Amino acid sequence: MKIAAGKTTDIPKGESRLIQAGDQAVLMFNLSDGFYATQPRCTHVFAPLKRGKILDDKCVQCPLHRAKFDIRTGEVDAWASFPPGVQLLNVVRGEKKLKTWPVEVDGDQLFIIVE
Ligand code: FES
Repeated sequence: MKIAAGKTTDIPKGESRLIQAGDQAVLMFNLSDGFYATQPRCTHVFAPLKRGKILDDKCVQCPLHRAKFDIRTGEVDAWASFPPGVQLLNVVRGEKKLKTWPVEVDGDQLFIIVE
């Protein structure tokens, strides 16, 4: 099923925006080769990734403990590493990838594809 998820013009190149797509909030990224949608909160302890940094047109870095996720796949690139001692928390909050959705573009309309 295709669900409308904002407009291409809502999201400047190299940035992300929180978009409501039906019942689902997604973080929509505009990268060099297109648009990508991930879940909006970090899988570690749920910090909002909209405040994270986009690194090298590839990863989003969580603003809280600096986990890095590949925006295109959701895979963990680096797990929570800050501040020192966060590793204790990691014992119970192990690595978990971000949920992602395929994105379709039709004119200036963005869609996510959900099953
Ligand atoms: S909440 Fe994102 S790394 Fe901890």
